[in-house]
Amino acid sequence: MDQIESLLKEKRVFKANRDFTKNANWNRKQIAEYRKLGAKSPERFWAKMARNDVSWFTPWKKTLQWKPPFAKWFVGGKLNVSYNCLDRHLEGENAWRRNKAAIVWEGEPGDTRVLTFGELHREVCRFANVLKESGVRKGDRVALYMPMIPELAIALLACARIGAPHSVVFGGFSAEALRDRINDAGAKLVVTADGGFRRGEPHALKPAVDEALEGCPDIERVIVVKRTGQATAMKSGRDLWWHDAVQNASAKCAPARLDSEHPLFILYTSGTTGKPKGILHTTGGYLTHVTTTAKAIFDLKDSDTYWCTADIGWITGHSYVVYGILANGATTLMYEGTPTHPGPDRFWDIIERWGVTVFYTAPTAIRTFVRLGDEHPKGHDLSSLRLLGTVGEPINPEAWMWYHRVIGGRRCPIVDTWWQTETGGIMITPLPAGVDTKPGSATLPFPGVHADVWSEDGQPVKPPNGGFLVIEKPWPGMLRGIWGDPKRFRETYWSKYRETYLAGDGAHRDSDRYFWIMGRIDDVMNISGHRIGTMEVESAIVAHAKVAESAVVGRPDELTGTAIVAFVTPKGGVAAGDGLAQELRAHVAKQIGPIAKPADIRFTDALPKTRSGKIMRRLLRDIAAGKEEVGDTTTLEDYSVLTRLRESQET
Ligand code: WTA
Repeated sequence: MDQIESLLKEKRVFKANRDFTKNANWNRKQIAEYRKLGAKSPERFWAKMARNDVSWFTPWKKTLQWKPPFAKWFVGGKLNVSYNCLDRHLEGENAWRRNKAAIVWEGEPGDTRVLTFGELHREVCRFANVLKESGVRKGDRVALYMPMIPELAIALLACARIGAPHSVVFGGFSAEALRDRINDAGAKLVVTADGGFRRGEPHALKPAVDEALEGCPDIERVIVVKRTGQATAMKSGRDLWWHDAVQNASAKCAPARLDSEHPLFILYTSGTTGKPKGILHTTGGYLTHVTTTAKAIFDLKDSDTYWCTADIGWITGHSYVVYGILANGATTLMYEGTPTHPGPDRFWDIIERWGVTVFYTAPTAIRTFVRLGDEHPKGHDLSSLRLLGTVGEPINPEAWMWYHRVIGGRRCPIVDTWWQTETGGIMITPLPAGVDTKPGSATLPFPGVHADVWSEDGQPVKPPNGGFLVIEKPWPGMLRGIWGDPKRFRETYWSKYRETYLAGDGAHRDSDRYFWIMGRIDDVMNISGHRIGTMEVESAIVAHAKVAESAVVGRPDELTGTAIVAFVTPKGGVAAGDGLAQELRAHVAKQIGPIAKPADIRFTDALPKTRSGKIMRRLLRDIAAGKEEVGDTTTLEDYSVLTRLRESQET
């Protein structure tokens, strides 16, 4: 059994909207031309993008040096990411952007700040000087452990300006997680805040830093932003308030002329098991990848107010809240808090008040909104929106349809973008002017990206069967390694197939060559000898009118090898029970086939998720198998979910 069967059939197609295509950054003709060029020579395609979309101090000598699995892009070129995000919008024909909003920020309590490109430039220079005065040199690592406030973006850009790689640790992680990441990266300085606001309360961060630093001998300095004003202990000689530090710092700081392969950042991602991996990204290739994709996929214009709801603690925030967006001179909106505070309509309220035009969020958020009910978005004027995007998980076709109908008013194209922390930028995606969409499909690879679906033995799988998603040729935003662990880098991504990148996801292609991502390979179930992706069964269940969300896992079964267990969250006001369970089984049998009928259905009001919103099927597998002890829960968002799940009603 080396193939994954695909049983779900989705037939709806949405044509690229004509009005939209007229003014798109990439029109149909260019898309066709770039596809052709990218298919023939990814190097020539990306070199063209690097020239068009990125400013270089010194041009490169060689586009790609590929010694598998190590790539170098734009070898010999020199540039600076913060120059590309800031300075170039203050010069020449773009100089008018000096007073254009770069960051529109809204705090959870409702306070707001707007930073123009001119102001952001000054703040970044000031903070870059503070870093220098604190002894941070080119190549030194800086850890950032902060809420979603403008200072986080400022700190990122200041690090980039002086060539000090940053390592952002999501503010929701524990002291222990922070300590491990600081030590693994060998960071020299930490930037944090007294706290941030979440669910209406100040949520302290500094105490976790103090606790972490008991085990981090190399940290000489901590810079603390005053955000909440809560009582905060400061260690003299080590800790400094941000506002004191920047007060006398000069607003002039020349951007370092950095090598194209100079490290830009490390970002830790948890593998399914074991210790987090420090994914390393560098300068020229990464910037080219995120700038070009943001321009083409989000169609960014000077008139746009773009909002990506991801936290900067994740790759989506790095690439498409900060770097890719500001490099295009676009306005990026940042929101500090939770989507449902003070009410379930907070997101829609933000969109209406700021006139958001492009909105990028995660399927997990969309499913939450489906459950909360249509009245919340319908109570707001969302007519400013012109383009929608999703990322982070496969989107179930019914959630896609809801997004299209209720949020997009049937007029906005949806870009379902597949990519990973490791890929740096978007890899498989619709292009709004030129790719017809199908609910649940990420459609086609971006030009210059060579993706395919392979069998166990490295053969391309024929549609409609599924297999392993691979990337066959190097791309500019690709990870350059795992920090300090080249062996793990080879083993994880490059050992199954030689010289071809293994993404770890299952996928299949349809007769139009469209990609359908079926979730992580580890989540595939083997039912009576058929390998079935959890995602398809979940989508079938979510397509039922009474269901908001579902997670499907396998549990050992004597008869069938594996039996399907479905955890189901009904929509608000729906009674769970035997009747509904029978309805759902019949529904799955009809949608996919009897083989996919869940043996157990367990109703629950919440599913275990990581802090970035991904369902932790690993924990559900343990619960479904009746294990008393479940595996590692350090990345779990809400611990109480586990108890509630154990008590969930079994039918
Ligand atoms: C999943 C997030 C289906 C996938 C940018 C991938 C998706 C993992 C999609 C990476 C999508 C991301 N459709 N699945 N559009 N986007 N994924 O590193 O399993 O947080 O491997 O990067 O998310 O998650 P990461």
